[in-house]
Amino acid sequence: MSDFTMVSRVSTGVEGFDSIIGGGIPEGHIVTIFGTYGTGKTTFGLHFIYEGLKNGENAIYISLDEDEESIRDTASGFGMDLEAFKDSLEIIRLDPVSVKESLEKVRNEMLQAILEMGAKRLVVDTISVLEGLFDEKERWLPLSYLRNIIKKSGVTAILTSEADKTQSSSKYGILEYISDGAVALRFLRKSEIEEPILALEVIKMRRVKHSRKPTPYIITEKGIKVLEGAELF
Ligand SMILES: Nc1ncnc2c1ncn2[C@@H]1O[C@H](COP(=O)(O)OP(=O)(O)O)[C@@H](O)[C@H]1O
Ligand SMILES: [Mg+2]
Repeated sequence: MSDFTMVSRVSTGVEGFDSIIGGGIPEGHIVTIFGTYGTGKTTFGLHFIYEGLKNGENAIYISLDEDEESIRDTASGFGMDLEAFKDSLEIIRLDPVSVKESLEKVRNEMLQAILEMGAKRLVVDTISVLEGLFDEKERWLPLSYLRNIIKKSGVTAILTSEADKTQSSSKYGILEYISDGAVALRFLRKSEIEEPILALEVIKMRRVKHSRKPTPYIITEKGIKVLEGAELF
């Protein structure tokens, strides 16, 4: 049997997304979701966490920007009641500056937290905030630490990042290399006077056969809905 069929898949909980990547994220993989503000990165991460919680899994949500209350509010705006899962979910708000100052300590604590909890899912939102504090030459360091933690613990992870100006890669362009998969969330404009539409594109997904076609999606009071098969314009 090939790797292809052996790896079990983790459902993202994002309506219409799993089928694009053949049934979900391969277990233990790291997937980067990048996009400019308002494209739904946090929402995507919340769907992923909530799906796990509903399946009886433990999960960790690490926030490098929004505080815990704001995350809970965003989730409840989409009808996700995180309170109901307070025993299986840990929301950790980390100050990026403190993380940078004690990187090794955070690394050890994070690994310990995942292992102790037996977490199956991890979200780090937004990792580019931390990347931005490092010089170009050192920027890979927090990412390689993070990759190490994820691979050691076997957790399936979503890392979110701001996009670069062209919306075609993560802000610093390194995350894609340490990730097993990358998904772009983009605003597309047909013309200046028309409302932009949102479209996502699977840039890479190791061991997975996937489409690269930009697929439109919408964000409603129920969260993200990917409109697979719909035409862009
Ligand atoms: N309860 C809601 N109902 C409908 N749309 C919402 C709701 N909450 C947020 N949105 C929309 O989703 C967008 C994306 O939110 P978010 O996931 O926070 O994006 P990002 O993390 O990429 O900045 C918001 O800018 C808003 O347009
Ligand atoms: Mg966000």
